[in-house]
Amino acid sequence: MESRVLLHAREYEMREGGKIDKLQRGAFHLSPLVGWMNDPNGFSCYDGSYHLFYQYYPYKCEWGPMHWGHAISRDLLHWEYLPAALAPDQPYDLDGCFSGSAITVDSKHLLIYTGVVKEYEENGKFKYRQRQSIAIGDGRDYLKYEKNPVIDEKVLPEGANPYEFRDPKIWQKEDGSFRCVTGNLKKDGKGQILLFESENAFDWKFERVLLENNGQFGKMWECPDFFKMGDSGVLIMSPQDMKAQGDEYPNGNFALCLIGEVNDETDEFVPKTSQTIDYGMDFYAPQTMLTEDGRRIMIGWMQNWDTIQVRQENGKWFGQMSLPRELEIRNNRLLQRPVRELLTMRHNEVICKNVCIFGKCCLDQIKGRCVDLVVEVACADKEGNGKFELRFAQGIGLFCSLSYDFSDRKLTMDRRFSGSRRAAVHSQSCRIENENEALRFRLILDRYSAEVFVGDGEQTMSMVLFTDLSADGISFRSDQKMMMNLEKYDL
Ligand code: FRU
Repeated sequence: MESRVLLHAREYEMREGGKIDKLQRGAFHLSPLVGWMNDPNGFSCYDGSYHLFYQYYPYKCEWGPMHWGHAISRDLLHWEYLPAALAPDQPYDLDGCFSGSAITVDSKHLLIYTGVVKEYEENGKFKYRQRQSIAIGDGRDYLKYEKNPVIDEKVLPEGANPYEFRDPKIWQKEDGSFRCVTGNLKKDGKGQILLFESENAFDWKFERVLLENNGQFGKMWECPDFFKMGDSGVLIMSPQDMKAQGDEYPNGNFALCLIGEVNDETDEFVPKTSQTIDYGMDFYAPQTMLTEDGRRIMIGWMQNWDTIQVRQENGKWFGQMSLPRELEIRNNRLLQRPVRELLTMRHNEVICKNVCIFGKCCLDQIKGRCVDLVVEVACADKEGNGKFELRFAQGIGLFCSLSYDFSDRKLTMDRRFSGSRRAAVHSQSCRIENENEALRFRLILDRYSAEVFVGDGEQTMSMVLFTDLSADGISFRSDQKMMMNLEKYDL
């Protein structure tokens, strides 16, 4: 049955999205066709294309009744918009189609998502009832399953809160059966990850609590993703309401990775290590997929609920996805690198070797807002412990920066002077875990974002920035003599 709500959204986005100038968007980062975007959803490979859906409210640059926007790509960098895939139009999802995932079942593309419905209390306040539902399609049009919802409060374990129960991530095991994890809040106010099982991806039963929050990591755990890499089990999730801990975990919302042991028979998971996924201001709700050539790729919402005021003035869209990142596990640590497809976009190579910097310096041909910059820098004196700074998106009175203090190994990303008039979080730091004297990183600039990959991808930092595109300067400074090697490519 055709949905009027969906048709209306499709007409609207086609008309209004077409009015947005290409230069107002990232060149190789997905933004919504029009209006609001948050989490990546249904990141998958189907019928020869990568599919990426997103939490979407086309009518305003604000969060509203969630739809699923849709885009496809062949290289994970250039995206073509398809019409919105889901709209809130059924009794069980009338107030929103929240986050979820996708998989291929019998040659069909199956989406599993959280349908939400407002339930009002006597005092006029409301809560969202949250249940998991399915839609099946051909990569463009999706039909909601007549027996929805497929997972609801009836199967929840004792102590689980049915109003904080969302974000199903589905996968198929080697024996052909299906599993999915969801986030949930226990009635004691701490998060947990629930694991469900199914023989056919339609009929689900509760299997076990995959992991309970012992209070260390925030409250509700959103957007879980669970997969194996080699022999390790990896659980990714996004805790809310975190209290900062030392240098490692920031306040508020952020993405967390736990690596540990998984029992293939019982699906038990015992985490051994934990790590912040991205130390910048803007990275949340990541989701992964496996490519046909066996790479585990992760993409995140390059925003954070605490920084959503940082935006284009009078923009017609809000929200961007991060670069898709290839994952690797080394020494129980998650490494992230930009997808290798990005190398094919590189052009105008400039290589500068053994550049001596002391004070301020600019280099010939090193500028731009769509740039891949590979930097290695060390103090000339081995005992040196000076400060290095790279400024980018630089114009008159404007710049963003990445600075490194060799004395305490702190790397800081800063956009206070990017032109923002908002008092949001504009700077974050992380301590670089690296044995070497030199600092090595890759900085990827797209028009309205910056992502840093340190070393072999041991640490990353991401942020959005909305400085006018004419601010395309790049410069370096140091308070001691330093030696730098640099490669720059336009993208
Ligand atoms: C995470 C999240 C999800 C939810 C969606 C709603 O950013 O809160 O838990 O499904 O956004 O848009």
